[in-house]
Amino acid sequence: MKMNLKAIVLAAGKGTRFKSSVPKVLHALAGKPALNYVLDVAEDVGSLTTYVVVGHQAGMVAEAVNGRAVIVEQKEQLGTGHAVKMCASSFKDDRSTVLVMCGDTPLLDSAIVRRLAVKHGRTKAAVTVLTCLLGDPGGYGRIVRDAQGVFSAIREHKDASEQELGIREINTGVYCFNAKELFKAIGNIKPNAKKKEYYLTDIIELFIGQGLRVETLVTDDWTANLGLNTRADLALAESILRKKILGRLMANGVTIVDPATTYVENDVSIGQDTVIYPCSYIHHDVKVGRGCSVGPFARLRPGTRLANNVSVGNFTEVSRSILGDDVNMKHFSFLGDTTVGRGANIGCGTVTANYDGKNKNKTLIGPGAFIGCDSVLVAPVKIGKGAKVGAGSVVTAGRDVPAGKLAVGIPARVIKRV
Ligand code: UD1
Ligand code: CA
Repeated sequence: MKMNLKAIVLAAGKGTRFKSSVPKVLHALAGKPALNYVLDVAEDVGSLTTYVVVGHQAGMVAEAVNGRAVIVEQKEQLGTGHAVKMCASSFKDDRSTVLVMCGDTPLLDSAIVRRLAVKHGRTKAAVTVLTCLLGDPGGYGRIVRDAQGVFSAIREHKDASEQELGIREINTGVYCFNAKELFKAIGNIKPNAKKKEYYLTDIIELFIGQGLRVETLVTDDWTANLGLNTRADLALAESILRKKILGRLMANGVTIVDPATTYVENDVSIGQDTVIYPCSYIHHDVKVGRGCSVGPFARLRPGTRLANNVSVGNFTEVSRSILGDDVNMKHFSFLGDTTVGRGANIGCGTVTANYDGKNKNKTLIGPGAFIGCDSVLVAPVKIGKGAKVGAGSVVTAGRDVPAGKLAVGIPARVIKRV
């Protein structure tokens, strides 16, 4: 269903509890900044335009947004209500639905947010708040309901009475608003007595006072709504996300021998019947084919592509490199900026020296080549199809080894025949 929906993502806050020189919404989870997950949700639910409110370290946050959304500046961080108000001029006479989300809730589920928007459209409420039932609601705004269970207010933890602190239903910080009503009321929010901030959550009582309809969508998945307020929250969110990523891979036919010690970032694809052995780390932007064997103790860094039946064994690192079908690299090796042809063998301890102190240079290893143990290939260099490099050789930059030839020694010299 197409919705006339725009999104506002709040990302101007200081994140004081994070104690960081980097804005908290830019801290990475599984290799991707927290804020980007929220932008993904906005895109998934079909936001026509997304606005990101920036303030604290605005430049850095705007740069990370990288054109995916319109940047709106909140010069002083006077609260979530004030942050939303900064977008008012973009919504003049606008009748669309405004989805408001916080930049610090990266585990939000697009399907649930879509349900929120659908319910909002159906009930024609002025606001529909996504709420969640928590075992430990500490820190979150509480959803206050009257004796009949009718939603009447959101009370922040700091302002809650003893009785309200016992409420287990919390505000996730995700809302669908009627744009017209939101921006009509937003200027009437008064600063909070204790924190002197303008709380977006105070708009509920203003709406009710005007006789407008306020709704909730109640959920119970605490993981989806986890807000990153501290480093402990960051670690918790990472572990939840990691389980999800590994679960998805296993469901697709990948064997993860020990999920507890396997780390796979976001944006990784792995083919069926590949086995990932313990203590391996696979970064984002990596593709692994079918029937491969990775680890134990392997690190695959961004830009790496393994074709099918590739073996990358213990104490190995592969960075921005492409390994063709049936390549073996079983022990103690580093390959960087390297392309390896089908069936080549990378001997134990082989290193491509890809960095000359200024530039990263490329190494090409032809199909069926055999690189002897403990060799160093100084890039840029090419090892031809079926060529061999003797154990312990140093093949220096530009001294390519022609197809079918053998090179040995330091510096390596081509000797007549293989
Ligand atoms: C907020 C809600 C709380 C809810 C919780 C859910 C309010 C007053 N409280 O509390 O009810 O349970 O989220 O996670 O809204 N921000 C700005 N400008 C500001 C202040 C904050 O852009 O002036 C941004 C922050 O960067 C953050 C988001 O708004 O992404 C939420 O702010 P935060 O301070 O984390 O609010 P909470 O205390 O978590
Ligand atoms: Ca928060």
